[in-house]
Amino acid sequence: MAAHVTTHQHFYKRNVMKNLQSEIQKLQETLNHQLATVKSAKELEDVRLAFLGKKGSITALLSEVKNLSLEEKKEFGPKLQQLRQEAEARIEATREGLIAQHAQAALQHLHNFDVTAYKPGVQHGHLHPYTLAIQEIHDIFTSMGYEIWDGPEFETDFNNFGALNIPQDHPARDMYDTFWTDKPGHLLRTHTSTIQIRFMQNQKPPLAGIAPGRTYRHEAVDASHDFMFMQCEGLLVDKNVTVGHLFATAQEFLKTLFKKKSLDIRIRPGFFPFVEPGFEIDMRCVFCKTGCSVCKRSTWIEVFPGGMVHPNVLRACNIDPTQYSGFAFGFGLTRLVMLRYGIDDIRLFHSGKLKFLEQF
Ligand code: PHE
Repeated sequence: MAAHVTTHQHFYKRNVMKNLQSEIQKLQETLNHQLATVKSAKELEDVRLAFLGKKGSITALLSEVKNLSLEEKKEFGPKLQQLRQEAEARIEATREGLIAQHAQAALQHLHNFDVTAYKPGVQHGHLHPYTLAIQEIHDIFTSMGYEIWDGPEFETDFNNFGALNIPQDHPARDMYDTFWTDKPGHLLRTHTSTIQIRFMQNQKPPLAGIAPGRTYRHEAVDASHDFMFMQCEGLLVDKNVTVGHLFATAQEFLKTLFKKKSLDIRIRPGFFPFVEPGFEIDMRCVFCKTGCSVCKRSTWIEVFPGGMVHPNVLRACNIDPTQYSGFAFGFGLTRLVMLRYGIDDIRLFHSGKLKFLEQF
């Protein structure tokens, strides 16, 4: 019996040992195999966990040591420790290999970098600063109940001058360096006031509208003058319209355009044949408090002229000046856009330069 037990124990021991031995070998092989195919740090970590993590197969095998006999412990304890250490070392070596590979790839990438290569990319279009400003101005005035009006750039002498109280040979015509055309009595409009004439002739008051558009003057081109620029006319005709309405509208408009909570304006007298009285409207400098180059150290910026529509203009449009009054203003949209966006050269507007347009 004893002999049998001994034999059995012996057999059992040999079996466990054989099993453990082959288990160790199997684990080594699978680990090596898996490490050879690892491609990323994430994959490597997964392998590490599968073998050495809390539930890893090497960890599981190590936890079996306590069930072995003393003799077995002596033999397999060190072997299993060695298995673990080797596994750790191999994983570490693989990690270093991966890092080196990565660095090599990055270097190769740099090496292959071709500074002259064409990079296809999507080019984004940009709205012209005029478009952006006109959209903003539309919003401000439509919120005050104004309509948006338009009119032709090729105009009659009457709409540009005659109806605006500037008859033939009136010296005020000298204020406008006019582009006359081959067609007698026709010109390129020198201001957008022509549009107010068209609308007053065709609509009955009350009416309120703004008219942005191109205007032309025979000017030598430099950083602040162009022969073509944008103006925006504003007109309101109704009963009992006063200068107070004009000033409040101008102030509201400028305040909103320059995104200020409050903005002071001041009024100076100004002469335009089509308004009486006529004014020059200034606003407090929106860029400084004590004087800067934009306001020429005065803290005031001249923004636009305006005034009460002259009775002769109302009459020329068949509106009875004893019944109705109105105010008009006309601002250089180009100038306002230059102020708004800090553009210092008027020539940029039509330069077609992408570097300029891409900023908007
Ligand atoms: N149209 C005028 C100009 O270009 C500006 C203006 C409009 C002045 C309306 C007063 C009232 O000179």
